[in-house]
Amino acid sequence: MHIETLLAHLAEEGGVYDPYGASHLPIYQTATFDLKKQSGSKIYDYTRSDNPTRDALETVFAKAENGASCSCTHTGIGAIALLFETVLRANSKILVEKDCYGGTYRLLQVYKDKYNVEVFFADFTDLSEIQNLLETEKFDLVLCESPTNPGMKIIDLRELARLAKNNGSKFAVDNSLATFASQKPLDLGADFSVFSATKYISGHGSTVAGALVSKSEEDGEKVAYFANAEGRSQNPFDVFLISLGIPTLPLRLKHHEQSAIQVADYLEKHPKVNKLVYPGSKNHPQHELAKSQMKIFPGVLTVHMQNVETAEKLVASTRWFGEKASFGTADSRIEIPAKISHASFSKEDLQAIGIFPSTVRLSIGLEHIDDLLEDLENALK
Ligand SMILES: Cc1ncc(COP(=O)(O)O)c(C=O)c1O
Repeated sequence: MHIETLLAHLAEEGGVYDPYGASHLPIYQTATFDLKKQSGSKIYDYTRSDNPTRDALETVFAKAENGASCSCTHTGIGAIALLFETVLRANSKILVEKDCYGGTYRLLQVYKDKYNVEVFFADFTDLSEIQNLLETEKFDLVLCESPTNPGMKIIDLRELARLAKNNGSKFAVDNSLATFASQKPLDLGADFSVFSATKYISGHGSTVAGALVSKSEEDGEKVAYFANAEGRSQNPFDVFLISLGIPTLPLRLKHHEQSAIQVADYLEKHPKVNKLVYPGSKNHPQHELAKSQMKIFPGVLTVHMQNVETAEKLVASTRWFGEKASFGTADSRIEIPAKISHASFSKEDLQAIGIFPSTVRLSIGLEHIDDLLEDLENALK
């Protein structure tokens, strides 16, 4: 079955037991279930542990990622915290690609301070550095995004999976930017795919949500245990909000990609742009690797402007690009990562990943491309 078909038949493929044959996911917005009154194949008792609406989304996410099981969480960062709870212990060692989401960076500081977790940051595109590290240190978890946000680097996920396995470490990929409609980290060798559903998967910016998909049943059981023990599971109404965007995800992604390629083409040649980084551009140094891992390129571009003034003027002058955090929605967005999404980074760590106050991140929405290009042209005058 192709991903488009799976996502178009969310309720059915999610295995919802519904006597009325509802064509969209019904919301079981309840805290408890009466044990004496159930006739379905699965018995529910309490929504924190299990809920039919959430179960359906988890089943579809697990199928979409080719995993054994999935736990849906309140937020994307909640799914990353669930991953850490499942895999890390006090004094654990974790190896993280240094170009990561600001919230992940902040969460790592929490684990460092509270649980003495040793955090190693490295450049995962430098495979010899990674190999050396993995030969000298034993890790519990290796974590990266691909593409990375905001640097837009592509990580060789097959190779990282092999190296992590040799080290005896679990390997997790944050798939928020690519999504399962484009890239399947578990097929490339990862043990976990974790993502924020707030972005492309919801697509409408109506709520925040996340998910953690495990490749093995064994890991999936541990994840579900912690999701319940720590109360991280997503509430049914939010599951419903997320579900509204799911059938159109592949279609939307293709539109985002087509527009982003045109915007990249325009900005690459603009005299006020120092450098544009977009994996969908033939000029991206890892364009071929990106093509081998992703079916569709996401609509997020990183633009290094001439200077801070040009960057700030661009952000302030666009009409259709709101200065907002997050990405992957119908409306286009623009931000300076150093000010918003990556404000939690120390100045030095941000510089080390090549992100400066003159760096701008664009999320290309679903508006007509002519309007977006005209808007950028006016803002760059
Ligand atoms: C790559 C990445 N992972 C995780 C998250 C966290 O997701 P959420 O905001 O849904 O908690 C974000 C949020 O921007 C992100 O960009």
